[in-house]
Amino acid sequence: LGGGMIVAGVTLPGLFDESRTAVSGGTGDRKPLNIPPLLPGVQAGGARQFSLRLQKGVSEFIERRTTPTIGINSAYLGPTLEMHAGERVRMSVVNALDEPATLHWHGFNLPAAADGGPHQPIAPGETWSPSFEIRERGAMFWYHSHMHRRAGPQVYHGLAGAIYVRDRESERLALPGEYGVDDVPLILQDRSFGSAGELIYSPSMMNRMMGVTGDTLLVNGGIGRTFDAGSDRLRLRLLNGSNARFYRLSFSDGRSFHLIGTDGGLLAAALRTDHVILAPAERAQIIVDLQDGLAVKLLAADARRTMMRGGMMARGADRGERFVALDIRPGEARRRWGPLPRRLVDLAPPDASKAVRKRRFVLDMPMGMMRGGGFTINGRSMDMQRIDEAVTVGTDEIWEIENASMMAHPFHVHNVQFRVLDRDGRPASAAELGLKDVVVVRPRERVRILVRFEEYTDRDLPYMYHCHILEHEDAGMMGQFVVRA
Ligand code: C2O
Ligand code: CU
Ligand code: CU
Repeated sequence: LGGGMIVAGVTLPGLFDESRTAVSGGTGDRKPLNIPPLLPGVQAGGARQFSLRLQKGVSEFIERRTTPTIGINSAYLGPTLEMHAGERVRMSVVNALDEPATLHWHGFNLPAAADGGPHQPIAPGETWSPSFEIRERGAMFWYHSHMHRRAGPQVYHGLAGAIYVRDRESERLALPGEYGVDDVPLILQDRSFGSAGELIYSPSMMNRMMGVTGDTLLVNGGIGRTFDAGSDRLRLRLLNGSNARFYRLSFSDGRSFHLIGTDGGLLAAALRTDHVILAPAERAQIIVDLQDGLAVKLLAADARRTMMRGGMMARGADRGERFVALDIRPGEARRRWGPLPRRLVDLAPPDASKAVRKRRFVLDMPMGMMRGGGFTINGRSMDMQRIDEAVTVGTDEIWEIENASMMAHPFHVHNVQFRVLDRDGRPASAAELGLKDVVVVRPRERVRILVRFEEYTDRDLPYMYHCHILEHEDAGMMGQFVVRA
């Protein structure tokens, strides 16, 4: 595959192409990166109000091909919602699709009735108006469909968007912070296109098992885009919004950069590295310096090897694709940046000494799945009528997640930012010491996390924990818990 992926005679530039990179290096005729519009909402009745509409649309990902998609206030994906720690928000979500859908606020502590999970479907033509208080720290969160058994196809076709939460502690740091100029969300999603331009979401057995991946990388809904940086120090907020693909992100010249934040907030101190790995739904905030004035490419390599153990599948996966996620051209130095702040925010290391209880979750893909059975957690597939766990509000618990399958699973828990304690008894790495709402559990691995729930609901409405490979979630690798006073 020397010249990029050929789909019906169209070369998709999203796929990594060594020859082109080496020869031209130039990016002159490429289209600019899409920046999702920033939606600040409006103040009304003591809350910040957002009006969102789930709608059908037509997108042009590939020139002169039209792609039916769905989005939020737009044809594909949605605006970046801007919120502030401590305030109350109210959402008005109109479903103008012809199927039920939900919007889940991923990463937030909130009442279960506002969660937007499978218990809050919005029927076509109806409006859902949850309200909740922003208890999170400054970070990038996201929202996406969580429709029961339909999250995979609905997110794949476009029902997702980013959320910026701002707080004082992180805003006052000397970090790039101008939205779309030197503070840029990058939503990474792999997709496959048919010959007419349509998105291909195939429910084959292989896709059900491995999750749906595509041969083309979209960044903010565009293929092969260029970003002209507005400053010579860039803050990138990376979101793996893919259904199933894991990425290893790095720069084409191998330059190092700083990881400054994880899913739910900034780290206590910046961490120098040359790559980050993001599983589906994970986020990372990085700072990259462009002071050398050189153009550079952000590369996204398939990180499937971290997903497998042994056997034929692992060998096949060694041919993992590499994508050019983004061509970055340095901008003019608008301001002179000093060294990165040494300390970022107050974040003590996790302390499990007050944990009152331990729970165990075993993730598995039993072979019966092939004959229509589901994926399981603790031997059971998701059942909307069954509450699997009941926890007490305001208490620390240790959750031990064990992967009994041959494939890595990104385990996500609603209504909490948790801390990673250890993997198979080894302390969490520095890159995982931040606030997290998704943690990768590799085959045969045992990961312990520290959770504490601050929000609950008085009706026995549950929250979810699940694998964030959306096809696994849809196939039942999900459970329900309530938080009681
Ligand atoms: Cu991002 Cu339960 O989901
Ligand atoms: Cu979530
Ligand atoms: Cu999974």
